[in-house]
Amino acid sequence: MDRKTQYILETSVYPREHEAMKELREITAKHPWNVMTTPADEGQFLIMLLKLINAKNTMEIGVYTGYSLLATALALPEDGKILAMDVNRENYELGLPVIQKAGVAHKIDFREGPALPVLDEIVKDSKKHGTFDFIFVDADKDNYLNYHKRLIELVKVGGVIGYDNTLWHGSVVAPPDAPLKKYIRYYRDFVLELNKALAADQRIEICQLPVGDGVTLCRRIS
Ligand SMILES: C[S@@+](CC[C@H](N)C(=O)[O-])C[C@H]1O[C@@H](n2cnc3c(N)ncnc32)[C@H](O)[C@@H]1O
Repeated sequence: MDRKTQYILETSVYPREHEAMKELREITAKHPWNVMTTPADEGQFLIMLLKLINAKNTMEIGVYTGYSLLATALALPEDGKILAMDVNRENYELGLPVIQKAGVAHKIDFREGPALPVLDEIVKDSKKHGTFDFIFVDADKDNYLNYHKRLIELVKVGGVIGYDNTLWHGSVVAPPDAPLKKYIRYYRDFVLELNKALAADQRIEICQLPVGDGVTLCRRIS
């Protein structure tokens, strides 16, 4: 981690982090796939964003142990909702007791399985079009453009889709022959393609932020 991020974490994030988020972060740190978790500064950013846009009806694709899910659940009002999807229920259940203890589990509708068929079902129901205030995508990068095709129908005009990992461990600026881990190299082209497609998409305004591993916010305008 670079020193600026460490400074931000120590000065602004950890002192204000909700105790449940701290507990979940510490549980997740012991899990073998902990590299997947949303960083604490990004969690704080999500909470601020959700409150600023008064989000109520939300979706999350890619839950893992639930750090960003808990951030979302804490930021939403009492009657807020999160449709959460992940192929892996076991990891979600690792964090679930902490989410329950924080008193926000009632906001979560967790669906186990691949997200794309769930989205296809929702898209069939025209009443669901334009109903989501916020959608956070943090799952299989090779499907982001497939998600985008569907999510653009589901997010409301003025609502926001956040795509995570759009800097993909810095690999988006690595030279073609750079020594990269296999999974980084594999997904890099998908992330590069996504970034170009989002920049060209006239239905959205975008803002790519260097928070965490890069988050691109897309505000639907038409
Ligand atoms: C980077 S992690 C999510 C991290 C999470 N947002 C957090 O705050 O800890 C990516 C997750 O996407 C899930 N995933 C991968 N492919 C998926 C798919 N096709 N549909 C739904 N979830 C998927 C993985 O099981 C994994 O838990």
